[in-house]
Amino acid sequence: MKVEIGININKAAEILKRGGLVGIPTETVYGLAANALDVDAVLKIFEVKKRPQFDPLIIHLPTIASIKRYTKELPSKAVRLFEAFSPGPLTILLEKREIVPDLVTSGLSTVAVRIPNHPLTLELLNRLDFPLAAPSANPFGYVSPTRAEHVAKQLGGDIDYILDGGLCEVGLESTIVGFENDRAIIYRLGGLSIDEIEKVAGKCELKVNQSSNPVAPGQLDSHYSPAKKFVLVDNLHSIKKADLSKAGFIGFDKHIEGVPFENQILLSARGDVNEAARNLFASLRLMDEKDLEIIFGIKVPDVGIGKAINDRLLRASA
Ligand code: TXA
Ligand code: MG
Repeated sequence: MKVEIGININKAAEILKRGGLVGIPTETVYGLAANALDVDAVLKIFEVKKRPQFDPLIIHLPTIASIKRYTKELPSKAVRLFEAFSPGPLTILLEKREIVPDLVTSGLSTVAVRIPNHPLTLELLNRLDFPLAAPSANPFGYVSPTRAEHVAKQLGGDIDYILDGGLCEVGLESTIVGFENDRAIIYRLGGLSIDEIEKVAGKCELKVNQSSNPVAPGQLDSHYSPAKKFVLVDNLHSIKKADLSKAGFIGFDKHIEGVPFENQILLSARGDVNEAARNLFASLRLMDEKDLEIIFGIKVPDVGIGKAINDRLLRASA
């Protein structure tokens, strides 16, 4: 817990250059970063997160030009997507060059690449001559962090510094897109909506709920889980039948009768799915810290980023 938190980009850069670990802010969630070309440093990421090595990492770079050093030829749709949405909550799977260690990609021929949209982290990346491998900065399987304090609380003892970029603006991880022939495939729903991607890349195929899919082993059903029992319901009637004295409720824009008021959180009282995305992970953490036996959640409208929120709620309840 006693890790330094600050905005010293120089310090972060020096630590990364000598193989250390730094918590970095992005617009989606905080990352646990190391030099992607330094296998010993990358190994520490897996150790600290207790993440199985068959689950590959995303590399973070500051520009489209810099991506070409680490990947083979970019499909034209990939270029168009990056140009339209980067820096931003978009990760693209690309054929890797040899320089990218197999540990980063878990032996796959593709590497996941993204240009994060956060001024501190972009400045940091610009000062480095290597990409940053960075999974979300949470213990494997737990909810992703959306503020520096979340990272300090869970991983503080094991990392060297946290760059404090405040609250994550998007609040959900990046959308992951790959290509099969010329067709865009979405492997993880996230901060960039399907509609936006399809405007640029044409009709996409969705392959998001495949826990057995060796191509995206990180998409396990039980990801993003709070420690407490979390039950996702379709409507409020299912909740009303239960004993609610030790229950919590994560709602979208309406409270519910029966659950003690102080145990209720609304993701967006004004019914805004973007605000709900920003609040989701912090709300799950908050509920997890309360003295409750069960947490109920209800789906948000299945539009735009709402689809990604519902995906995370479903996984949290698995
Ligand atoms: O928004 C984000 O993407 C955040 C921030 C920190 O950038 N990062 C993040 O990383 O969510 P992580 O490691 O928690 O999730 C990365 C996902 C995993 O599910 C992993 O399986 C998948 O990306 N992935 C990485 N490389 C892959 C590859 N070559 N092929 C298929 N899936 C890949
Ligand atoms: Mg993660």
